[in-house]
Amino acid sequence: MISKEMEATLNKQIELECYASFLYLSMASWCETEGLEGSAAFMHRQSEEERAHMLRIFHYISEVDGHAIVPAVKQPPLKFDSARAMFQEVYDHEQKVTASINKLVSQAYKEDDYTTLNFLQWYVDEQREEEALMRSIMDKIKLIGDGPQSLYYIDKEIDKINAAEAAAEAANADAGGA
Ligand code: FEO
Repeated sequence: MISKEMEATLNKQIELECYASFLYLSMASWCETEGLEGSAAFMHRQSEEERAHMLRIFHYISEVDGHAIVPAVKQPPLKFDSARAMFQEVYDHEQKVTASINKLVSQAYKEDDYTTLNFLQWYVDEQREEEALMRSIMDKIKLIGDGPQSLYYIDKEIDKINAAEAAAEAANADAGGA
């Protein structure tokens, strides 16, 4: 059992993760229109991950006898000024999500809600990884530059990340992990 306040804050987090999923799906679509196939595959995977983040909270709320709420759909932007601007927006959004998770952790402490505190640890780790990944992408874009000729190389770099993530997932599956 969690407090009504905690239930409301967790439902707010569902909204944030759901919006991230739609935002990244819209980015994947824009990348496809720009011929950025590596970046499109990357954003599709990020979108799926965000849906999984949302569902994890959804199931947790139900498990602790709360009511998980499906949020209203807010339309994300359809176009982005450049690949650099798009990835900057992902990084900014991830920082917003981290701040929100930190607030949740703080609330769980204040309420002596150690079950939710324990549940949130996974998100703390996940946000550290996501922010590090997005920072490394921004660093690469800064190095390569983002003029028209650079887009091909940026996309190739993103595709290398796709290949590394796919290899990690395959290794994880072989090891019997989730
Ligand atoms: Fe689920 Fe990337 O925040």
